[in-house]
Amino acid sequence: MLSKKYKPRTTEEILGNQKQVFEIKKWIKKNKKGGALIITGPPGSGKTLSVELIARELKYDLIKLDAGDFRNPENIKKLLLSSQQKSLMSKGKIIFIDELDSVSSSGLKAVHELIKQSPYPIVTIVDDIYSRKLVNIKKKCDIVKFYKIRQPSLMKFLKKIAEKEGIRTNDIILKKIVATSNGDVRAALNDLESLSVNPGEDNYRDVENKIFETINVILKTKNPENVRIALKNSNKTLDEIVWWLEENIKREYEKKEELAKAYDALSRIDIIQTRIMKRQAWSLQSYIPDLVITIALSKNEKYKKFVNYSPPTFFLMYGKRKSKKLDALLEKMSKELHVSKKTAMNYLNLVAMLVKNKVIKIDKEDKHILFEATGQIKRINHT
Ligand SMILES: Nc1ncnc2c1ncn2[C@@H]1O[C@H](COP(=O)(O)OP(=O)(O)OP(=O)(O)O)[C@@H](O)[C@H]1O
Ligand SMILES: [Mg+2]
Repeated sequence: MLSKKYKPRTTEEILGNQKQVFEIKKWIKKNKKGGALIITGPPGSGKTLSVELIARELKYDLIKLDAGDFRNPENIKKLLLSSQQKSLMSKGKIIFIDELDSVSSSGLKAVHELIKQSPYPIVTIVDDIYSRKLVNIKKKCDIVKFYKIRQPSLMKFLKKIAEKEGIRTNDIILKKIVATSNGDVRAALNDLESLSVNPGEDNYRDVENKIFETINVILKTKNPENVRIALKNSNKTLDEIVWWLEENIKREYEKKEELAKAYDALSRIDIIQTRIMKRQAWSLQSYIPDLVITIALSKNEKYKKFVNYSPPTFFLMYGKRKSKKLDALLEKMSKELHVSKKTAMNYLNLVAMLVKNKVIKIDKEDKHILFEATGQIKRINHT
């Protein structure tokens, strides 16, 4: 795997976060005996990697502990005793707890004890620094925060690797990989790798979830993580995915209570989208994935049947090119009117009327699609 092959071998090779690496080094040197450090930050930013490389460079042994070790406190005592022997090569030891979040609350008590008694510095990595479980432990720790790797340095890194590996690619594709990786080096390398297996831009599009696959995953899975991944990998906007879900829930779910739950989540999404537009409250956007997960979890059991998912009605009526134009118009309207795109659809008739009566002016192409759309919508309402 590329993430193994191109794993930095020295701290100097680590992308970004050099200040953090320096701080960890300094902290370890200062805390030879005891003390605890929490490292936190986004996935794939090099947290685990940094601790391993720093320990190696400073010639410390890493005593790795995980959630399992803390299930039985006796283990910890034994381990500390056996680690008392001095190694000839190393300058000292560091107790390293990666993923401290996954330690149970009783295990965390043992960690607490360990922090009090340990003759060695304790370095931990925490995913969710705001977790309530960690409130007490946090008080005893110093904290170092990692950041996402910035796009230009990730871009340079991928370019170099693509060249070395002879992966056929171009700036547009690489940019896309970098943008969707969200600063996660591991994710970017994995995407590059799937590209090397399926060369060519078109194939990269295949690697991206097609909308049918996205909908299929969301409606079939009961695992929230799968929903998150499907959303992340989709090349469609959240708005569009929600429209598709709205259209297809009734094809997948059969029980009344399942449908009720799913439609309730949908209506909450619409409320949020409207609020986002009204108040420009973009931060609310982050609640939508959770509601999509609620839709996935609305079913009691997974349905094994094959479902022929359909595009949302107006996409179906218009075909791809026109629906794109309509979508763009709705986007403009939603910004202008501060409503969600879906609500904007309800205003199409009104806006068409205002345009006809020359109360408002819009450009020619929008006018065309608007009149066509309102004509179509009327036709549907009549049948
Ligand atoms: N800053 C970085 N510079 C270079 N490579 C990196 C960097 N961060 C991550 N990688 C690559 O990604 C892989 C995973 O990194 P690492 O395990 O350190 O991530 P992490 O921050 O601990 O993520 P997680 O929160 O998922 O555990 C590394 O083996 C390396 O190949
Ligand atoms: Mg890690």
